[in-house]
Amino acid sequence: MLQDNFNRVHDYLRISLTDVCNFRCQYCIPNEDAQFMPSSNLMQLEEIVSIASQFVSLGIKKIRLTGGEPLARKDAAEIIQALSKLPVKLTLTTNGSRVHEYLEIFKAAKMRSINVSLDTLVATKFHQITRRNQFTQVLNNINLLINEGFHVKVNMVVMRSFNENEILNFIDWTKDLPIHVRFIEFMPFEGNQWDNEKVFTFQEILTLASSKYQYTKLREEPNETAKSFQVNGYQGTFAVISTMTAPFCHNCNRLRLTADGKMKNCLFSKGEIDLLNAHRAGEKILPLIQQSLSNKAKALGGQFEGDYQQIDPHTISNRSMIKIGG
Ligand code: 5AD
Ligand code: SF4
Repeated sequence: MLQDNFNRVHDYLRISLTDVCNFRCQYCIPNEDAQFMPSSNLMQLEEIVSIASQFVSLGIKKIRLTGGEPLARKDAAEIIQALSKLPVKLTLTTNGSRVHEYLEIFKAAKMRSINVSLDTLVATKFHQITRRNQFTQVLNNINLLINEGFHVKVNMVVMRSFNENEILNFIDWTKDLPIHVRFIEFMPFEGNQWDNEKVFTFQEILTLASSKYQYTKLREEPNETAKSFQVNGYQGTFAVISTMTAPFCHNCNRLRLTADGKMKNCLFSKGEIDLLNAHRAGEKILPLIQQSLSNKAKALGGQFEGDYQQIDPHTISNRSMIKIGG
């Protein structure tokens, strides 16, 4: 069992397949000509399956594939197929641009739930943030997933003075569609120009929602990071991931594997343990997994306990989001 020093049992693994992405979201990729990892550093198909299987033997029950953009990886379909044979719930977070090419693969892998990142419902702003022109494609693919019966969550990173004025439009979107919008408080990562003034908080989001809607708080699943709500009579739901103002570390159940095979015990952990090179050298990785777990800090990687307004982004030591895997 994957239990840490704070009695948290871990059964959820997020595997980043690549640090490559066909978008250039400002808050995720520090600069336009970012250097990607050489492919020899990436976990190969068999390595992913072997390492993931060892996690499963320790009690992992859910695997989410992330990136970069996981579907940008050439062998993404083969990886999905192979992992679908493990006794886990398999899910994926994508920017939505290539979903139409993978629909049959998702179905064959019995995936039920897909998360799509989308920070704006305005085409020009979409271009501004992603530096790409695929707004319509992403929207079409979200509709496609819904029509095909997938449970679709839309992740919207809220940044003050950029897109908080769209929060109500996103909630409106849940009226006639069974779509699950999740507002994420903007988090600091290397090079992403975070500053505490840009965090539009959980409380502010709820105050705004209350100005227009009557909504009900929904029951939380165990280990849920999002606090969910539903406007009365609406088909979909909205939720807030309040990492900065109300972290949910006390019941964290997640572990991460970067595309180059490093285990991170927390999104904000400074340290990482190299499972891939150990695996390649024929060493046992189970003790390394346990070692990483026993280093897990009580909250937020031990980097910023307390008030998020006191965080100096320059003192944070971490990879950029694209190199961690969302
Ligand atoms: N703050 C909050 N959320 C972020 N994501 C990426 N970078 C940040 C950040 N700095 C989101 C992506 C994706 C999810 C995995 O994490 O938009 O939907
Ligand atoms: Fe878990 Fe780290 Fe996220 Fe907290 S910040 S919920 S410890 S992964």
